[in-house]
Amino acid sequence: MDRIRIAGGTPLRGTIAIGGAKNAALALMPACLLTDETLTLTNLPDLADIATMANLLAQHGVRLTLQGDRGADRVLDLAATEIINTTAPYDLVRRMRASVLVLGPLVARCGQARVSLPGGCAIGTRPVDLHLKALEQMGARIELQEGYISATVNGRLHGAEIVFPQVTVGGTENALMAATLAKGETIISNAAREPEVADLAHCLVAMGARIEGIGSDTLTIQGVERLHGARYRVVPDRIETGSYAVAAAITRGDVELVGARLDLMGAVVKVLTDCGVTVSATENGVRIAADRADIVGTDIMTEPYPGFPTDMQAQLMALMATAGGASMITETIFENRFMHVPELMRMGARINVHNASAIVRGVPRLSGAPVMATDLRASVSLVLAGLAAEGETIVNRVYHLDRGYERVEEKLAACGARIERLHDGAAE
Ligand code: UD1
Repeated sequence: MDRIRIAGGTPLRGTIAIGGAKNAALALMPACLLTDETLTLTNLPDLADIATMANLLAQHGVRLTLQGDRGADRVLDLAATEIINTTAPYDLVRRMRASVLVLGPLVARCGQARVSLPGGCAIGTRPVDLHLKALEQMGARIELQEGYISATVNGRLHGAEIVFPQVTVGGTENALMAATLAKGETIISNAAREPEVADLAHCLVAMGARIEGIGSDTLTIQGVERLHGARYRVVPDRIETGSYAVAAAITRGDVELVGARLDLMGAVVKVLTDCGVTVSATENGVRIAADRADIVGTDIMTEPYPGFPTDMQAQLMALMATAGGASMITETIFENRFMHVPELMRMGARINVHNASAIVRGVPRLSGAPVMATDLRASVSLVLAGLAAEGETIVNRVYHLDRGYERVEEKLAACGARIERLHDGAAE
């Protein structure tokens, strides 16, 4: 298993290219199941989760053709001319919860789908009951058998008024995809407003779907009989952007994030600015300057978009661990999303957790240590802490990082970080 070694303490300077959003791509790829024509996605990130989704779609019968290996040049054609299998097996779903996003498109196009129940994961129980309820309202018969969700409908799904009792990104995406081919009108209230949901909706419109209210909490969909192919560019990754913004801030550096979109980052920019970091738009992206900053603690509460994203909570906690003064970080989206806390504490951070809140008291300097990641964002927070720490940090279980960050060590090293990947069996 690969590890990452970091010798901390170097302020980052330079430019980092931001890739397409993992979470947008993971919803856009299954949208290909809605049509027998080719969906072409550009700016596709090169990540383990994308490969898992590609494998899942391939076993449903999707023909995938990839061109280019980097950034905007990475183009994927997905052709679901014929769907040969409507089962998403345990082995793939267990590896990645977003696999459940094939459920809505499969049942809408084929009238049936069997998807393994995702089960627990490192950041909590994460049920899919709201996905299932929405599909049921659209006429799908849902049964749970032997660990699998079975969804069937005779003929087409029908429009429905879906009111989500709680904001769910994946639930909104599944319902939205299913509604595009349903008979009649579907209204989704309390829909997730995350930019990745809007990205999916724009792509569906390019495929011939009729959707109003994109970007708002009410989506109105007029179902159509068929969708067609389209070419669509994946939105830049706001979480990758935020993570590198914290890398610049935590090392008191100055970095330009090329291709980043400031307009998708409101809540994160506000927190960074409140901490004393200068964030500005440039011709090509976003500049993060902290070389003269006196970083001060600030309170953070995770919320659905446009609030502060839960996927940035661990990274900001690493930054707050090095800030002057205290900060309170409250997690409202997922239970059990403080697994990075004991690892950060092993690096000298002073953190107390009370239920869903963590009180972080900044220390002048973290110290390097061997640490272990438990999920994607937790692992990047440990890399960030390592960049700022005195001495050597080894981050174990790097496969979590590879799920969501493309060439992380290359991008950071290009800005002066002393970071390298140790391959399995390599000497330490
Ligand atoms: C997506 C993102 C993930 C992000 C999360 C919240 C992808 C691939 N993943 O995950 O990175 O952290 O949004 O922004 O896009 N819930 C239920 N029942 C359901 C569905 C959700 O109770 O049927 C709960 C969850 O347990 C959680 C909350 O709703 O507490 C939000 O989850 P949701 O927005 O659905 O997250 P994901 O779509 O899984």
